[in-house]
Amino acid sequence: MQIPDPALVLLVGAAGSGKSTWAAEHYRPTEVVSSDALRALVGSGTADLDASNDAFEILDRVVTGRSRRGLTVVVDTLGLDAQRRAAWAALARSAGLPTVAVVFDTPAAVCRARNAARDRPVPASVLGTQLQRVRDVRTELEAEGWEVHVVGGEASEPSSLGSPASS
Ligand code: CTP
Ligand code: MG
Repeated sequence: MQIPDPALVLLVGAAGSGKSTWAAEHYRPTEVVSSDALRALVGSGTADLDASNDAFEILDRVVTGRSRRGLTVVVDTLGLDAQRRAAWAALARSAGLPTVAVVFDTPAAVCRARNAARDRPVPASVLGTQLQRVRDVRTELEAEGWEVHVVGGEASEPSSLGSPASS
C-alpha cells in the first residue's frame, strides 16, 4: 500500500478494528492525533464522552496546524462523521495536502472478539452499527474525494484467531 507523504490520513473503522495499532506501526507518535487520547487528556478517560467536544476542538487545531505546515497528520477517530470529514478535508486541501482515507475492513467477528476482551467494551449493538456504517462509508468517501485504501480483511488476520464467523 503506497500512501503519499505528507498527507492527511483519515482512519475509518469500527472499535477494535485495529486503527490505533496500525497508526503506531506506520507513523511517529507526533503524527497521530487521536480523539480517544484527547478525551483522556481533557476528561476522565478515553471513554469520557462528555469530553468529546473539548477533545475534537483540540484535534481540529492539531489538524489545522500540521496541515498548514505541510506535515502529515493521521486522524485516529472512528472516521464516520461526514461533517467532521468535510472540515478536515477542506483544511488539508487548502494546504495542498492529499486526503487519504484508510478503511479497516476487519472481520466483524474479530472486532467483536477484541471488543469483548477489552476493559470497557463498546455495547454490542453500538459495535454492530459501527460495522454496518463502515461498510456503507466506502462509496461516500470516494464521492467526497478521498483516496481510499483498505486494510485488513480475513487474509491478513493471524491464523491464531481461527476462522471468523460469517458477518
Ligand atoms: N490488535 C491485534 N492485532 C492487530 C490489530 C489490533 O491483536 N493486527 C489488538 C490490539 O492489540 C488491541 C485491539 O486489537 O488490543 C484493538 O486494536 P486497536 O488498534 O486499539 O483498535 P482501534 O480500531 O483503534 O479501536 P478503537 O476504535 O476502540 O480505538
Ligand atoms: Mg483506537
